[in-house]
Amino acid sequence: MNNTSQSVLANSFPAQPEPTARIETQHRRIVTELPAPATVKRLADAARVFPRVNCYQPPIIWDRAEGYQVFDETGNCWIDFSSTAVMTNTGHGHPEIREALRRHVDEGLLAQFSFASDIRVQLAEKLLAVSPPGCEKVYFWTVGSEAIECAFRLVCEWGLRSDPVKRHVLTFVGDYHGWTLGAHQLSGNDAQKPWLPNADDGIHHLSFPRLTAQTADYTDADWRDCFDKQIQQLADDGVSSTEIAAVFIETFQGWGALPLPVAFVQRMREWADEQGVLLVFDEVQTGFGRTGKWFAHEHYGVRADLICVGKGVTSTLPLAAVLGPAEILDVLTPAEITTTHAAHPLSCAAALANLRILEEEQLISEAARKGKIAREELEALRARFPKHISEISGTGLLFAIHVSDPSTGEPRVELAREWTWAAVKQGVMLFQVNRSTLKVVPPLVIPDDALVEGIHALGDALETIA
Ligand SMILES: Cc1ncc(COP(=O)(O)O)c(C=O)c1O
Repeated sequence: MNNTSQSVLANSFPAQPEPTARIETQHRRIVTELPAPATVKRLADAARVFPRVNCYQPPIIWDRAEGYQVFDETGNCWIDFSSTAVMTNTGHGHPEIREALRRHVDEGLLAQFSFASDIRVQLAEKLLAVSPPGCEKVYFWTVGSEAIECAFRLVCEWGLRSDPVKRHVLTFVGDYHGWTLGAHQLSGNDAQKPWLPNADDGIHHLSFPRLTAQTADYTDADWRDCFDKQIQQLADDGVSSTEIAAVFIETFQGWGALPLPVAFVQRMREWADEQGVLLVFDEVQTGFGRTGKWFAHEHYGVRADLICVGKGVTSTLPLAAVLGPAEILDVLTPAEITTTHAAHPLSCAAALANLRILEEEQLISEAARKGKIAREELEALRARFPKHISEISGTGLLFAIHVSDPSTGEPRVELAREWTWAAVKQGVMLFQVNRSTLKVVPPLVIPDDALVEGIHALGDALETIA
């Protein structure tokens, strides 16, 4: 059997309890060895019944979670810096979402397929009300990968109808757009799919325009030029701009919380308008206040043609959507695609409550404000460990700590993993990214002092392994 698909994460965390320092503060409580001895058997059961592809997160059995904290049943409690993969924007199990779900269970529909219902119409209207101008329709799905898959189909059909040569789609090396076939091909890079011999030859990956120490002195003109050169290279390789239907953009590249340079995106927008190309912003991770704005592409000051959303739209149950103008969302004819569970009524109830909470508790401006505190604390952490931390990136409450090998300065996945586990032992819940980063993405409701305490605890954790 060849090993090409084997995860580098195999056996990444200890299966047996390790000595763990006792911690008790207002926000964290670690009172057992970790993994907690009482959970070891069930962790082993999980490893037996789940495929190993699922078994790569820290060995903690989550029992309940509230607001910004996660609890196990053995008395431990963590400050959550994961938001369960950047999802629980309004916090875990917000009482108003629980109440909306309870009410809906007692009074409402529990299944509906593609029939209309009041709650689904209400949610679509609410989403359009908070979306940028130009969004006229909402195409509902269940998970983010499906929203991307749908946007991919829409832009390809739209391209074909506007001009049959428009069959090419661009994206960026290192983007993540999901796991389904189209989304997977848009993700990563051209060479990463050895299992997929007939990859779509109409998908092309541009280099990601990364803001680094080397590009720090680039002017806006340099970034515009950087975009134009890539488009020229594509043309030299036989794909002219008139043959391109769309560009998919992960609005902040998720693994590293990396923004694109504003001037680069603005030049891309101009070019798209000149050439009749659609810009699709993947806001599955960055939407609904995560970066301190409703949608992260607002940081670039450009218009989106399509917006894909998921995760933080409900902060709880599965729901995703493509938002955009009728001209594009209506390219498919009735029943050309059907799906059973999209916009499940319970997910709609959760989403409506979630959007109300975002507004009522002003969590979007709160994310921007707390992001400034987090940035300051994370930069102080970097100053404390300059050899282990090469960069802090992100904004709002979407941050990544870039981890490097202290002796070579190179990115170091193994150290990020070790640090992740050491942080969990310090009472800060992280998820493993499988890259050389730690993601700091707490629920937007986190109190300021818990945010600061959690970042200090990351430093204490690194101290134990550095
Ligand atoms: C930017 C982005 N796009 C798409 C997806 C896929 O969403 P889902 O996991 O709900 O299929 C993710 C998930 O992490 C994501 O971060």
